Amino acid sequence: MRQAGRYLPEYRATRAQAGDFLSLCLNPVLATEATLQPIRKFGFDAAILFSDILILPMALGQELRFTEGEGPRLPPLQRAAELRLEKAPGIYAPVLQTVANLRAALPRETALIGFAGGPATVACYMLDGEGGGGFPRIRQLAYENPGFVNDVINILTEATIIYLQGQMDAGADCLMLFESWAGIFPPAQFRKLVIEPNRRIAAALKAKNPAAKIIGFPRLAGLMLGEYVRKTGIDAVGLDTVTGISHAAAACPENTIFQGNLDPLLLKLGGAAMEEAVQNLLASVRGRPHIFNLGHGITPDVPEKNVARLMELIRGA
Ligand code: CP3
Repeated sequence: MRQAGRYLPEYRATRAQAGDFLSLCLNPVLATEATLQPIRKFGFDAAILFSDILILPMALGQELRFTEGEGPRLPPLQRAAELRLEKAPGIYAPVLQTVANLRAALPRETALIGFAGGPATVACYMLDGEGGGGFPRIRQLAYENPGFVNDVINILTEATIIYLQGQMDAGADCLMLFESWAGIFPPAQFRKLVIEPNRRIAAALKAKNPAAKIIGFPRLAGLMLGEYVRKTGIDAVGLDTVTGISHAAAACPENTIFQGNLDPLLLKLGGAAMEEAVQNLLASVRGRPHIFNLGHGITPDVPEKNVARLMELIRGA
């Protein structure tokens, strides 16, 4: 996760060339380059499109800024009617061009992962206007004005289906849905705002293309994980750092494909702590389908040599 990014000097150079992060996301030549940099350097089996989950709200007409050191900022949405579904494809078109460039540039054996935010997670940023993890406004609105939250989720669900279908048509081999803030919702809201929209997205994409492969990432789903996997119909599930493989295996249908869940902090630390955790993770997934990945995003302070060592450990296993 965050395969590209500030831990790579060549990424920092490409971002400087683009001017800022959003211009980089919307520049197909430079976004292709940012996606390919970590593949060239480390030879991962799959590349994840360089973009951001907040491109979609921006395409729907919400203003978006990324301020250095502060993360994203949006003017908190007041009415669902402010969103413009019909204009979105024209605005995110450069991202689909990046997908097409990548499919042409990548070797056939390197899978290309497209992605979008899950509707609940994207709505968190749209309604609260910033990240941080508290999201007090959407949590309160989900009780006080559920109709408003539902309208936003429905528009996002519809937009996400069209957006991901576009990424698939442009050449993505697999799609990932980042529900990074799924864990802030109590069970009844989790079902309505996370599971049902994710199910609708997976069902719509598979109805058009039965071969579509979708990875869900319901971060901090906790005891809702099994229900999420069973009801959404996703093909694989990304596990956060706190969800151990044995607990996930007990909660999910047999042979559920897991992705994750190495603690990104270990990639910063390296050394014995990383080696031991990687061996433990590899041992815990032996005999079951597993996509090696982190449990959350890579951080800018990760030394490249630790990523290289991680690859040796996985490939040697
Ligand atoms: O993994 C990849 O290389 C693919 C690209 C990717 C980015 N963001 C690039 C990015 C992906 C898949 C995302 C998803 C994303 N974006 C999520 C879901 C996954 C997660 O982390 O939970 C979320 C919540 C966002 C929203 C977002 N984007 C935040 C909160 C931030 C600020 C974080 C920070 O460290 O400053 C971003 C910025 C962002 N997205 C960066 C990158 C490489 C850093 C931008 C930079 O300064 O160059």
